[in-house]
Amino acid sequence: MSGTIIEIENLTKVFYTDEIETHALSGVHLTIDRGEYVAMSGPSGCGKSTLLSIIGLLDTPTGGRYTLNGKEVANLNFADRSRIRNQEIGFIFQSFNLIGDLTVAENVELPLTYRTGMPSSERKKKVQESLERVNMAHRMRHYPAQLSGGQQQRVAVARALAGSPSILLADEPTGNLDSKNGEAVMKLLQELHQEGATICMVTHDPRFAAHAERQIHLFDGKVVAEGELNQLLAEV
Ligand SMILES: Nc1ncnc2c1ncn2[C@@H]1O[C@H](COP(=O)(O)OP(=O)(O)O)[C@@H](O)[C@H]1O
Ligand SMILES: [Mg+2]
Repeated sequence: MSGTIIEIENLTKVFYTDEIETHALSGVHLTIDRGEYVAMSGPSGCGKSTLLSIIGLLDTPTGGRYTLNGKEVANLNFADRSRIRNQEIGFIFQSFNLIGDLTVAENVELPLTYRTGMPSSERKKKVQESLERVNMAHRMRHYPAQLSGGQQQRVAVARALAGSPSILLADEPTGNLDSKNGEAVMKLLQELHQEGATICMVTHDPRFAAHAERQIHLFDGKVVAEGELNQLLAEV
């Protein structure tokens, strides 16, 4: 299948804390095609993580319209949203977000346990395969704290890909890694992209952004064109 997978029109997000209103997103327009690999960059606080959270159905917008796979997200009920998030979307975070008191294998298996009708034997097989894929099968029974940062992120990638999501969202996945481990994670994302996954990756690093086939830039809660961004930054 090809065509549009993510369509975002005039998306806004306002956070209200005490007496302060933060306009994290101020009218984002963005269309992503199925199978595209998009890198998002922009200065700290410009709304990248907020946008990724909304795309991944972890958060809801204040205004605007978000259509995922042809369905308007605002019209989905709680159960639909949870199911889509669990089956269609894989997340990779800067800080790995593994659960400390679960083993590597249990961490990877956890999202699969929410899949109704998936037998335990199939879950175990998927866990094994995805850990082999990231070269971490030999650490199945370890706990996250017993692994290096690079190894933890590889486990997080295995967790994200175990459920064969159609969309992978990565929020500064290399932010806490040295360049060698960062490259290893980039290589995995590249392979997943070649197998057809749609990838949105936030990164500060232009070398990593260059892995994507399309680069978009955010500034002050809006998507701006590349030239515009350079101009805006020159004015700051
Ligand atoms: N849960 C929240 N509550 C209040 N303000 C928030 C929250 N999350 C993000 N923000 C604010 O929204 C803006 C955008 O944040 P974020 O999307 O995390 O930016 P980025 O990922 O580009 O650094 C920032 O000003 C941030 O402080
Ligand atoms: Mg962020």
